[in-house]
Amino acid sequence: MGVAMEGMIRLKGLSLAFPGVQGLTRVLDNVDLDIAPGEFLAIVGPSGVGKSTILRVIAGLARPNTGTVEMAAPAPGRRAVSLVFQDARLLPWRTVIDNVAFGLEKLSMPRAERRRRAAEALTLVGLGDLVDRWPHQLSGGQRQRVALARALAVEPETLLMDEPFSALDAITRESLQDELIRLRAATGRTILFVTHDIDEAVHLADRVVVLAGSPGRIVATHRITEAHPRSRGQGRAADQAKAIRASLDGEVLINGAAT
Ligand SMILES: Nc1ncnc2c1ncn2[C@@H]1O[C@H](COP(=O)(O)OP(=O)(O)O)[C@@H](O)[C@H]1O
Ligand SMILES: [Mg+2]
Repeated sequence: MGVAMEGMIRLKGLSLAFPGVQGLTRVLDNVDLDIAPGEFLAIVGPSGVGKSTILRVIAGLARPNTGTVEMAAPAPGRRAVSLVFQDARLLPWRTVIDNVAFGLEKLSMPRAERRRRAAEALTLVGLGDLVDRWPHQLSGGQRQRVALARALAVEPETLLMDEPFSALDAITRESLQDELIRLRAATGRTILFVTHDIDEAVHLADRVVVLAGSPGRIVATHRITEAHPRSRGQGRAADQAKAIRASLDGEVLINGAAT
């Protein structure tokens, strides 16, 4: 892992293939991507295109066949990245606060400090009153907030989010999206957010990268400059979503014709 510009993540020429029954399946093809410090970057693309694989490579959970990930070392007491998944993955035998403190057990700090940071993260996501609840006593949206608090508690330089709101109902999803925009403004975290929902990407991100094809590659990049709060599905947002859809559709057709 080299060192890119301070706080930046740089993916260079990432290609990756998985061994399968019919030999290697290529999943990513020559992905180049720079994520600026403090940026909110969304990656959109259809299921199976390699979105989660990119996050796994950045998190060090998968190794590319070629290419590199450059990322500065985290500040002391912080983590480079933390991940939020579609399902909250809470431990049912731990209370809310102990679930959040769990992620801090790998960082060496006294128990009191772990609980202080966990409580602070829970307050940040609006769950300050529910610290002593058990996971089964929470709604789906609340569980996802706990997962977000657990990821924030380690004070990651970059938050990696893999379709974190996809399993929620539309109303809860919209409130968590707005909550995330607020959190981002409050914490200044770099966020890499993966979704198959174009409208969600346009609502949240500073920049939307479109991944398409098999193997997946970056086919378009759209910068979203509209200030927050953004309108949903109207005016400029609708036009931008349409442009992104067009870059995706064009690609699917091209690839369809080629195979
Ligand atoms: N560990 C693995 N072994 C074999 N194939 C995998 C593995 N992980 C993912 N894949 C395959 O790689 C492709 C991309 O997967 P993924 O990154 O999860 O896509 P996405 O998140 O965009 O839906 C899929 O075809 C998937 O089946
Ligand atoms: Mg995925």
